[in-house]
Amino acid sequence: MKKLTILLLLLVVLSLTACNGRKNAETNTSSGEAQTSKSEAKISTGSHKVLVVYFSRVGNADLPKNVDTVASASLKVTKGGVQGNNEVVAKMIQKAVGGDLFLIQRADKLPADYSVIERQGQEERDANMRPKLAKHVKNMGSYDVVILVYPNWWFDMPMAVYSFIDEYDLSGKTIVPFCTSGGSGFSNSIETIGKLEPKATILEGLEISQDLPNNTEDDVNKRLSKIGFIK
Ligand SMILES: Cc1cc2nc3c(=O)[nH]c(=O)nc-3n(C[C@H](O)[C@H](O)[C@H](O)COP(=O)(O)O)c2cc1C
Repeated sequence: MKKLTILLLLLVVLSLTACNGRKNAETNTSSGEAQTSKSEAKISTGSHKVLVVYFSRVGNADLPKNVDTVASASLKVTKGGVQGNNEVVAKMIQKAVGGDLFLIQRADKLPADYSVIERQGQEERDANMRPKLAKHVKNMGSYDVVILVYPNWWFDMPMAVYSFIDEYDLSGKTIVPFCTSGGSGFSNSIETIGKLEPKATILEGLEISQDLPNNTEDDVNKRLSKIGFIK
C-alpha cells in the first residue's frame, strides 16, 4: 500500500512538471515573436499618429521625363505626374486615415531600365545588401502606427525596405503591411517583418495586383475598415 502511494505521488509530480515545462515553452515562443496578424485583430481604440511609409521604383530610379508608361507596367500617369504603384496605394491609405507620408529613398539612384533594375534587385537580395538611405524619419518615436507599403521584389521586400526597418526600433508600434506585386503577393515578407520587429504588433494588410484594378481603392478602404481604422 505504501509503495502504491509513493508511486501515485511520483506520477502526480511528474505530470505537474511536464505541464509546467510545456507552459514555459509556449511562453518562450510567443515572447520572442511579434504578434502577427490574426485576421480578426483590430487597431486599439483612441487616436493614433500614423506614418505611411512606402518604397517605389518611382522616386528611386533615374527615369527620363518622357518615360514610356505603356511599356512600364507599374507606372501610372495621374494628375500628380508619373507615379509608381506603391505611391498610388500609399496616397489612397493616407487619404483614408490621414497621417504623414514618407518615401524610402535610396542614397544612390536605381537605373531607368526596368530589366536592369530587376537584375540589380536580384543581386542585392542575393547579397543580403542594405542600401544606404538618403532620408530619415525625424521623430519616429511620435508615431504609434507604421503602414508599410512596398513592392514584392524577387519574392521578398526590396533591400531598401530592410534598410528602413533596420534603422528604427518599431517595438510597441502597430505595423500594417501592404504589398503590390505581379502575382507573388507578400511571399514571406510578413514573417520577415515579424522577425525583424519582434515587439511590434502586425495587423492584417493587403496584397494588391500591380495592375491596380479599378476596385483597388475600395479594397484598401475595406481592409482599413476591417482592422478598425475607418468606421
Ligand atoms: C526588381 C523587381 C523584382 C520584382 N520581383 C517580383 C516578384 O518576385 N514577384 C512579383 O509578383 N512581382 C515582382 N515584381 C513586380 C513588382 O512587384 C510590381 O510591379 C510592383 O507593383 C512595382 O511597384 P512600383 O511601381 O511602386 O515600383 C518585381 C519588380 C522589380 C522591379
